[in-house]
Amino acid sequence: MTATQIHPSTVKEAIETRRSIRKFVQEPLDQNDLREILRLASLAPSANNVQTWRVAVIQNPDLQTKLQEASYNQGQVTSAPAVLVVYSDMEDALNTIEQTLPASMSEEERKTRAEGFRKNFAGMDTAQRGQWGLAQANIAFGFLMLAARSLDYDTVPMLGFQPEKVKELLGLPEHVQFAGLLPLGKRAEDGFPHHRHDVERVATFY
Ligand SMILES: Cc1cc2nc3c(=O)[nH]c(=O)nc-3n(C[C@H](O)[C@H](O)[C@H](O)COP(=O)(O)O)c2cc1C
Repeated sequence: MTATQIHPSTVKEAIETRRSIRKFVQEPLDQNDLREILRLASLAPSANNVQTWRVAVIQNPDLQTKLQEASYNQGQVTSAPAVLVVYSDMEDALNTIEQTLPASMSEEERKTRAEGFRKNFAGMDTAQRGQWGLAQANIAFGFLMLAARSLDYDTVPMLGFQPEKVKELLGLPEHVQFAGLLPLGKRAEDGFPHHRHDVERVATFY
């Protein structure tokens, strides 16, 4: 089946034309486009500008086959020319928080801010603060899907995988938390029409 290629020129169109795509055109990704998608997603906001998200960019058929096995054999993992594994590393973010502070800030102010930030999380255990970090990474995960669509690419967000196996495959530390896998490429199917609650069902107006 030939998929209908839709070229969004506004955020509204990117949102309306995004749908989960599980069959992709079999061609390598343009690496400049890939970097631009990652750059756009990195403009996502986060509390204290902490930027907890990290992305493992997989463009390797052997590794994708193993990832697919860890994903209950979901075919989109090998159909896509790339799979972005999006996770949050709150421990890394805490250890390197100075990198997120503007260069214009005085040395003293940087020290005070960094110490204050670390103190805020000192009372939490790794899993609790990991959860907080994941909330930030999830925002970037959403941005990634729309950034991809804005450059004419398609994705399918995925949580159907075994996290421990994916950590092992990629050599990731135990404490990281996944926003999801994101197979990425050009659509080779149309996906399904949106089927959503009405605004009235989900919004309460006060
Ligand atoms: C967090 C998350 C996890 C998902 N996990 C999977 C998955 O493992 N496999 C899959 O085929 N689709 C997965 N989906 C896609 C949803 O089924 C899909 O987004 C939903 O049915 C709405 O369809 P649409 O994306 O085409 O609008 C996931 C979506 C989200 C947001």
